[in-house]
Amino acid sequence: MPRKTSKSTSQSSIDVLLREERIFRPNAAFRRQASVKDASIYGKAARDPEAFWASCARDLVWLRPWKKVLVWRPPHARWFVGGKLNASVNCLDRHLGTAVRNKAAILWEGEPGEERTLTYAQLFRETCRFANVLKDLGVRKGDRVTLYMPLVPELAIAMLACARIGAAHSVVFGGFSAESLKERINDAKATVLVTADGGFRRGVEVPLKKFADEALRGTPSIRHVVVVRRGNFPVQMTEGRDRFWHDLMRDRSAECPPEPMDSEDMLYILYTSGTTGKPKGIVHATGGYMVGVHTTTRLVFDLKPEDVYWCTADIGWVTGHSYVVYGPLSNGATVLMYEGAPDWPDRGRFWQICDKYRVTIFYTAPTAIRSFMRWGIEWPEKHDLTSLRLLGTVGEPINPEAWVWYRNFVGGGRCPIVDTWWQTETGMIMITPLPGITATKPGSATHPFPGVSAEVLDEKGRVVKDGGGYLAITRPWPAMLQTIYGDPERYATQYWSKWDAKTYFPGDGARRDRQGYFWLLGRVDDVLNVAGHRIGTMEVESALVDHPSVAEAAVVGKAHDLKGQALAAFVTLKEGIVTNGDLVDELKSHVVRKIGALARPDDIVFTAELPKTRSGKIMRRLLKDIAEGRALGDTTTLADPAVIQALKQRYQED
Ligand code: PRX
Repeated sequence: MPRKTSKSTSQSSIDVLLREERIFRPNAAFRRQASVKDASIYGKAARDPEAFWASCARDLVWLRPWKKVLVWRPPHARWFVGGKLNASVNCLDRHLGTAVRNKAAILWEGEPGEERTLTYAQLFRETCRFANVLKDLGVRKGDRVTLYMPLVPELAIAMLACARIGAAHSVVFGGFSAESLKERINDAKATVLVTADGGFRRGVEVPLKKFADEALRGTPSIRHVVVVRRGNFPVQMTEGRDRFWHDLMRDRSAECPPEPMDSEDMLYILYTSGTTGKPKGIVHATGGYMVGVHTTTRLVFDLKPEDVYWCTADIGWVTGHSYVVYGPLSNGATVLMYEGAPDWPDRGRFWQICDKYRVTIFYTAPTAIRSFMRWGIEWPEKHDLTSLRLLGTVGEPINPEAWVWYRNFVGGGRCPIVDTWWQTETGMIMITPLPGITATKPGSATHPFPGVSAEVLDEKGRVVKDGGGYLAITRPWPAMLQTIYGDPERYATQYWSKWDAKTYFPGDGARRDRQGYFWLLGRVDDVLNVAGHRIGTMEVESALVDHPSVAEAAVVGKAHDLKGQALAAFVTLKEGIVTNGDLVDELKSHVVRKIGALARPDDIVFTAELPKTRSGKIMRRLLKDIAEGRALGDTTTLADPAVIQALKQRYQED
């Protein structure tokens, strides 16, 4: 059970107050069949990381072998220098001469219920045809192509087609606004935009082409627009610029020789938000990235030929790039893609899909798991989930109660859980259990992947052995970002300057416990200083969610005369729970019980929804504006702007 302690070790620069001591070991049946059974992989990789990554790289198809595994001139690393390869060859061609040829590569289900299956041979042909389309539209090696699409197979095809001819794709998540799309197209100076007439979200049309048209008013670099017909939604086509995908694909050759790419040639750009307003175009190169995602997919998910693998992320995020497209396809996996919302037409949709396709590996986000918890166990219980054998989470710290719920009610108590820490910038999973050998603790991402070096450091760069501090990556890793597109200085200052140019700073707080487990505490800007104690907001949230009435909680700091900062908590309750004044006091006492008096929230406000970005991250910055009585900052990335207005009013009333 979690235990509270009031003091952290003297070394720590962040006090860590919530202790979770439950341990779950993989069961014997899982261990016996696991790809990694032997913990010596860690020592071997640590003794000679370059040799380790080279052995992983030999599992890919190279058109020319590399001369040097790593050239490291901090903060710039070059991986597999002199090697040539093509990412689409590694995802497609390599399987064609094997039994994988006619295996399902993609099992796709649309939100309204349509089904499509593409075998590896079919995916190869479609990719080559679209690569020829792009070539005819004038796209050449090194050009940028923006993809703004719903989660349909054409999105994966377009990515692989770009990779085939050496163009960099820049996928912009279909939930972004016209303004965000415009900004990203202009930053990348993309020449072609691929979009769709629309997409479905909870039964409602998302008019992507309409948003694209708005963006296209201010994007001088775009010469051609390709439109996928997804839903027969009405669209306006601009003569000379816009063409339909199906028209362009007609009679196209299904042969397209792959462009031999230098290992360090750009594979893609993906925009991610930072602490400043302007999104950063994270650049991933080809060779190291492919080695990183190929290896981690195989070992972290214990991937086997017969698996049905479902990562619920949209391809618009890095999780979709690495663990829907490049990692699983390079391993010849069967990848399930579901276009829509988890609660459409009812809250059992994900479980119905797991049941129908006999999904074996399921990878999702803690925010989704907390929704499932809130909706109740009757939904997973309605469906047969016995095909599942491994569960994963990614995107934010998972509170132990959600972890245990996931294990019990989705995993039937038998599936190992891999809590995977990584980022858009790292490209690949960095801190994670290896499911056949790691004893997991709920809420801990456990250990760095073999060949990855991570530490918890204090402000001055001293190693914290047992306690809190900042996460640091202390050695280059193959899928690391190459730069920020068009802004190499920001690359150096943002990531490689907190301590020295050899040490990567991801921006996350972390704790190491006595057994060397890593506990990620969220972004350091989410770490508060209350009466001289630095407290991860996540810890307080975990404590709140631990209360039987609470579904989800977000905690922010607000300025306080005496304590420096005080805590304000925004709480959503489980269905059927009635709010009253007693509950506020009860929750405060609960936090005090779990963590200590210093973590007692000053304010607790109940809300039906928390303000979230379209990727599901709680926008604490806006909650802080409310808690401190300020005018609201930028709300353009909110999934539902109405939530925040209602909350602001409520806070003032309370
Ligand atoms: O704060 C960490 C959190 O998500 C951040 C990276 O976000 P993004 O680039 O959008 O990529 C998300 C998908 C890889 C990290 O800096 N994060 C991600 N995974 C975890 C996590 N925090 C705790 N535990 C995780 N497993």
